[in-house]
Amino acid sequence: MLARLRASAANLFGLTPWQRIVSLLPGISASVLVLSVAALIALTALYRSQLDLISHTENVNSTLARSFASVQDAELGLRGYLLTGDETYIDRMEKVRGHFEEEYASLAALTQHNAAQQASLKELRDLARRHLEANLNSLSRAKAGARVQSIYPLDSIRDIVLMMQRREGLLLRQRIDDAAATSVWLFLAATLPIVLVAWALWLWLRDRQAGLGARALHTADTKSALVTLNAAHDATAGEGIAREAAEGQVRQLQKMEAVGQLTGGIAHDFNNMNAVVMSAISLCRKRLARGETDIASLLDAAMDAAQRSAALTARLLAFSRLQQLSPEVLDPSQFISSMTDLLRRTLGENISIETVLGGGLWRTNADASQLENVILNLCVNARDAMPGGGKLTLETANVSLDDAYARANVDVVPGQYVMIAVTDNGEGMPPEVVARAFEPFFTTKPVGEGTGLGLSQVFGFVKQSGGNVSIYSELGKGTTIKVYLPRFVGVEKAVLEAEPHRLIPRGNAGEIILVVEDERRLREVTVAGLRELGYTVIHADGGANALLKLEHHPEIGCLFTDMIMPGMSGRQLADEATRRWPGLKVLFTTGYARESVVHNRTLAKSANFLPKPYTLDDLALKMRTMLETPLSAPAA
Ligand SMILES: Nc1ncnc2c1ncn2[C@@H]1O[C@H](COP(=O)(O)OP(=O)(O)OP(=O)(O)O)[C@@H](O)[C@H]1O
Ligand SMILES: [Mg+2]
Repeated sequence: MLARLRASAANLFGLTPWQRIVSLLPGISASVLVLSVAALIALTALYRSQLDLISHTENVNSTLARSFASVQDAELGLRGYLLTGDETYIDRMEKVRGHFEEEYASLAALTQHNAAQQASLKELRDLARRHLEANLNSLSRAKAGARVQSIYPLDSIRDIVLMMQRREGLLLRQRIDDAAATSVWLFLAATLPIVLVAWALWLWLRDRQAGLGARALHTADTKSALVTLNAAHDATAGEGIAREAAEGQVRQLQKMEAVGQLTGGIAHDFNNMNAVVMSAISLCRKRLARGETDIASLLDAAMDAAQRSAALTARLLAFSRLQQLSPEVLDPSQFISSMTDLLRRTLGENISIETVLGGGLWRTNADASQLENVILNLCVNARDAMPGGGKLTLETANVSLDDAYARANVDVVPGQYVMIAVTDNGEGMPPEVVARAFEPFFTTKPVGEGTGLGLSQVFGFVKQSGGNVSIYSELGKGTTIKVYLPRFVGVEKAVLEAEPHRLIPRGNAGEIILVVEDERRLREVTVAGLRELGYTVIHADGGANALLKLEHHPEIGCLFTDMIMPGMSGRQLADEATRRWPGLKVLFTTGYARESVVHNRTLAKSANFLPKPYTLDDLALKMRTMLETPLSAPAA
């Protein structure tokens, strides 16, 4: 109830004064009706009493007239007897006296509340009684024969009666006026409420219709507002889609920019190194043509450039997580300790090195030479960020990366890691540099001072090793780069002693090798190199030819094949060849990492494998080892 009242009050506050009144009209009308019915009842009762009073007055007047007529009758009876001697007049006079007393009694009752009329009535009674007595006395005396004359004239009685009738006449007029007024009120009381209620109803209905119209308008407004809102929503959704599309385009552009930067960087560095190789070779040719044999320094320069090309591809492969890794179980603290001398020499005297190495550190399974490379890269970057000298801190710790950390960092698997952190108090990086620091060829260093491959290599290696790397940097304060490597939980193998340096092993003419390589120049160089080592070499440019050669030369002992070739792949060729010539040994080679080849299920883990690019020494060692190892066991 209270809530309904509050609601209606709240509704009222939202209306104009006129609307408020109109909205109250039904209530007001009902109240007016109730009041008017009550008034009608009261007025009707009043009117009825006033009509009663009028008839009462008429009653008084007629009774007065009758009483006067009685007195007159008495006098007429006396006069009749005196004139006629008829005795019936005597009876009549007796009856008249009785009538007068009755009428007097009723007049007394009728005028009991009117003092003036009561007083006059008493006077009238006395006079009338005396008049009647006197007439009766005169009649008795006349009967007895005496001379009779009327001594009590009627005039004074008539005057009293007339006066009393005048009074009643006044009262009557007054009462008729009162009743007339009451009848007017009655009429008003009966009609006004009807008119008022009808008017109120009309107003209320009109207002209600206006309200409905307004509500309809309001609804229409609401609808149109909804339509506008929907349109706005659609527009926002459209904007969202457009923004997503724009963001997609920006991402695509950034990707294209990164790819452009990568290809540009590769092209630039390879061109430089190719230029060295090509000019060295053309100079060699010229000198040989002149019969000069002083070409060793030129060949060294060409070899150096080719090796730097190989190093560049290695760094790129590292970033692509495709480099050849030889993981071993390491204690990161020991590892860092063993590197501090090298670091002191590399970083120079104005960089102080501090190590905070956690005790009881977990082990990790990582490629030691690549990890060394990673730490060197990070420390060189730190040195470059502190040109005026500074402090470098190397820290190790056991760390558990939880689900929340994994959710907050893309491509992180929750679990236990060993952390190696490299901190400097150098110039720091702005956020836009942090965002791009891992991109290959991204560098802020002047041309010739940085290739922009250091951190990309770190990133690729850490990711390939199942870990994670993050940068915390503040401009002007310094940088911390944290490398997380997965905790090693298996049983450690005994560390193999490094093999003593061996002489380049040679082959003999009885050992026949089939070289399969689709790249002509590489095939020619490889064939020449193996022949140089003493082997008998047959060659083919693809799988189909290789099988033909095997058919013609079943004495072939070893198949040395590239993995990726048009038509039949190295793997398919090896499968088919070993199925038909079970004693055949196979050595694979490819520019891709063994891991990627194994993961793509193109190569068994136990297969013999020589990654490209390889030197003649690498090939000699691998070939010898493989040929000396029995078929069932893979070569080291
Ligand atoms: N410790 C650091 N402090 C400040 N900036 C750094 C730090 N480490 C890296 N950077 C920024 O990140 C960029 C990329 O580093 P990255 O090691 O990949 O390439 P580089 O050092 O420029 O060249 P490269 O390592 O190939 O010689 C750097 O040019 C530098 O701007
Ligand atoms: Mg660097």
